Amino acid sequence: MRHQRGGTAKADKLQRGSEFKGDLMLERAKTLLRPSARSNVPPFMVMDVVAAAARLESQGRRIVHMEVGQPVAGAPVTAVAAVRAALGNGPHGYTEALGIASLRQRIARSYSGWRGSEGNGLDIDPERIVVTTGSSAGFMLAFLAAFEAGDRVAVAVPGYPPYRHILAALGCEPVLLETTAATRWSLTCEALLAEHRVRPLKGVVVASPANPTGTMMPAQALADLVRSAEDAGITVISDEIYHGLDYAFTAKTAAYLSDDAIIINSFSKYFCMTGWRIGWMVVPSVLVRPIERLQQNLAISVPTLSQIAAEAAFDARAELEKVKQGYEKNRRILLDGLPRAGLTSFLPVDGAFYLYADISRFSTDSFEFATRMLDEAGVAATPGVDFDPVHGRNFLRLCYAGAPDEMREAVERIDKWLRG
Ligand SMILES: Cc1ncc(COP(=O)(O)O)c(C=O)c1O
Repeated sequence: MRHQRGGTAKADKLQRGSEFKGDLMLERAKTLLRPSARSNVPPFMVMDVVAAAARLESQGRRIVHMEVGQPVAGAPVTAVAAVRAALGNGPHGYTEALGIASLRQRIARSYSGWRGSEGNGLDIDPERIVVTTGSSAGFMLAFLAAFEAGDRVAVAVPGYPPYRHILAALGCEPVLLETTAATRWSLTCEALLAEHRVRPLKGVVVASPANPTGTMMPAQALADLVRSAEDAGITVISDEIYHGLDYAFTAKTAAYLSDDAIIINSFSKYFCMTGWRIGWMVVPSVLVRPIERLQQNLAISVPTLSQIAAEAAFDARAELEKVKQGYEKNRRILLDGLPRAGLTSFLPVDGAFYLYADISRFSTDSFEFATRMLDEAGVAATPGVDFDPVHGRNFLRLCYAGAPDEMREAVERIDKWLRG
């Protein structure tokens, strides 16, 4: 008994001691593990919509998804087959940091005319191709290779939020330039150079077709912007992730216009391979080695199976063009149906798979509007505030990468809901 009591006392003491130690460690961790200021980037609000939609679905509601910007179609058959075949032929170790040579060659070749909307004879040296873990990693590599901490880089508003968030996380200063309907919601030489005169810019990110607007820059406007920027010593980074998905007119790569521009592209959208996390860059020769060194250190290499799949995806043109025809059909359904439902005002629906609708007739709080539309109409869309902190409260982004039947259903539901 005594022995037991002594044992209990000892155990209590030990317990108290370990609790004390635990408290101390927690206190210490709080001071040691304070998140860095640079990690304090804003969240993506669309993810809140995704979570709310999932909650409703778990309660048995049917939701039409137009919130996340990804194709419902899976990776092309050729890509999946290539990976299946490769699985029997392991090991699948690291690859060259810049990517498998045959994939880099295939990407370079695609600029000579693989896609109707691109090449037509553009001769790109495969040595300038860098394979990346999605275009997202391409931005990190490009910004790290081209800019110093503190450098000012212009981005369009409304625009894809990670441009400014990645820049900020890397210590650069994103400079938000507002765009207007007069220029199809894209950056202009005048706005860029005016800002450059206020304080010099080191870079500018352009995107055509763009997210969230779905608008495109006419070829001449893009050419003027690239020339003006480079004449002023501003590095151009052209996000061409939605190339191949153009409906109003053809999207031309900035690689046509300059060997000094950094081109960023991806297998996520046209190729329907979001989850495979694979993209590429065309970089000026002077940046190849610095980017290779960065990639060696940051990632070693890009997932091998995804590289194998990506190379085979170039053989899927017919399948991918069919998917694109589906988007064109969806686009038509929305262009015809939304005005009848009361959403009469939206930006030119030129490319990608987004429609950016002005909802100010109904609400000037797009987050609240999107939440109610989800709850009451069962249609999930992204509030504009994700893309434009100021005017985004008047806009809603609808992604039309789903099935045509779903688009029809979305229009009907929105129509019924807005009519009350
Ligand atoms: C304009 C734009 N750029 C880049 C990306 C990143 O795509 P990923 O990293 O899948 O290539 C997206 C994703 O939605 C996008 O919309």
